[in-house]
Amino acid sequence: MSGITLAAYLRDAQRAHGRLPDDLIQTLEITATTCERISAALQRGALAGILGMAGSENVQGEDQKKLDVIANDMLLDAHASGGHLAGMASEEMDDPFPIPDGVSRGRYLLLFDPLDGSSNIDINALTGTIFSVLATAPDADTTRVTPFLQPGTAQVAAGYAVYGPATQLVLTLGHGVDAFTLDPEQGAFILTSEGMRIPEATQEFAINMSNQRHWEAPVQRYVAELLAGKTGVRGKDFNMRWVAAMVADIHRILTRGGIFLYPLDSKTAAKGGKLRLMYEANPMAWLIEQAGGAASTGRERILDLAPSGLHQRVAVILGAREEVERVAGYHAS
Ligand code: AHG
Ligand code: MN
Ligand code: MN
Repeated sequence: MSGITLAAYLRDAQRAHGRLPDDLIQTLEITATTCERISAALQRGALAGILGMAGSENVQGEDQKKLDVIANDMLLDAHASGGHLAGMASEEMDDPFPIPDGVSRGRYLLLFDPLDGSSNIDINALTGTIFSVLATAPDADTTRVTPFLQPGTAQVAAGYAVYGPATQLVLTLGHGVDAFTLDPEQGAFILTSEGMRIPEATQEFAINMSNQRHWEAPVQRYVAELLAGKTGVRGKDFNMRWVAAMVADIHRILTRGGIFLYPLDSKTAAKGGKLRLMYEANPMAWLIEQAGGAASTGRERILDLAPSGLHQRVAVILGAREEVERVAGYHAS
């Protein structure tokens, strides 16, 4: 393929688009290098004694795996002293992580889901890391959540790493979506897909069907129509996939199309949904929109939501534009 490294790509983007400051490049390069280290840790797995539970719970009341904590610490350590960030926030931490006193600080905020799909770790299946970058005022108090509570439209970069047979990094800076594949021999991410576009027509959907009895009527209707296949109103058969790692499901949709739903249901309604707005929904929604798709809660565009809390959860329906609009239409009627 092209042989363009992520580092060269970022310098090219800086020249082409102008508004890509060195601090932002550093944020992305360090994130990529850390994803490479997380990937190496996942590959060693049982050999390094890092499978299984950490014996702790995160702020959301979920049991943490050892690798949730390890990946979180790797990202914090790698970014804390670089001088490019003003603060970090993570799915695995109650409060924001301010840049330590005495360390120079930059103007970017990094938010991440250090290990997505962590129930897949122990079965040697796909997982990922999701990240979102926001800018803030130089004097913002990043010990508080307020500077982080920006809508998805304010993101300056977003992406994910997917840890599969190959490790890939998928990135948007607001000029489309490009993907890189880790070359372990070079220790570098190499550009392997440029300008990813979600196919408009799809015959594939992703939803955890075991929650069916908890869904609201619009989602019941939509999925029933898909399941009816050729004999139903859609007039074609649909296939279903569910990896239980959002990164992997979204990566498939960016690659070959489809729709992903983690809708509001009666099990998660009190919390607002299952997936996290700041670490999962916003970065994925921006990537999907940048690839020509759409992202909605069913009721609103995800990127327009004004966050009310760092760990806020939302309903997520994203992928092929026509399908997402159809589900939103069912919610509206
Ligand atoms: P995490 O491992 O970061 O907590 O995220 C898991 C999320 C998401 O990746 C996935 O789509 C979903 O939870 C799977 O949920 P179910 O187990 O309910 O299918
Ligand atoms: Mn996750
Ligand atoms: Mn996670």
